[in-house]
Amino acid sequence: MLFIQINFLFNTFIFSGYKLQKITHMEPSIGITPDHLTSVSKALNTILADEFVLYVKTRGAHWNIEGPDFHSMHLYFESQYHELEEIIDEVAERIRMLGHYATAKLHDYAALTHLTEEISEANNSRGFLKTLLNDHETIIIHLRENINDFNDKLNDAGTADFITGLMEKHEKIAWMLRAHLK
Ligand SMILES: [Fe+2]
Repeated sequence: MLFIQINFLFNTFIFSGYKLQKITHMEPSIGITPDHLTSVSKALNTILADEFVLYVKTRGAHWNIEGPDFHSMHLYFESQYHELEEIIDEVAERIRMLGHYATAKLHDYAALTHLTEEISEANNSRGFLKTLLNDHETIIIHLRENINDFNDKLNDAGTADFITGLMEKHEKIAWMLRAHLK
């Protein structure tokens, strides 16, 4: 019995080429260099910061909106922050797929974001709609700037495709916000 066990271990660990080593790193081996994975992840953390700040501002609009159209706008902003909640999760998990950590500190978001925390000049629908439209358009511009770089310079077609889809979601929300302001 002992012989069988020793023989099994011998065959398994020697002849199979198995090396007893402690795996300390599980870097993604997906055809993108570590430097490029780092660059894409850094850019994604900035996108995450933008999305998080916009999420908080959209919740603020939901809470603080006043005026005769309160009820419809209160619900409208709620549907938007739910959508942003999903986007935030997708961006953070994309960073993890690339082997990096997603920033989860408010002061990092404030430092990284392209947006300001200003809400609007008035707590009415026009003020909030204009502020949020401006923020969505700012995000669209920055996403668009990154798409070609991710694809061509950093060899990450997956993330280029991911942020293209993200940009389209923001374009749809921006269209709806714009339509309210006509
Ligand atoms: Fe609510």
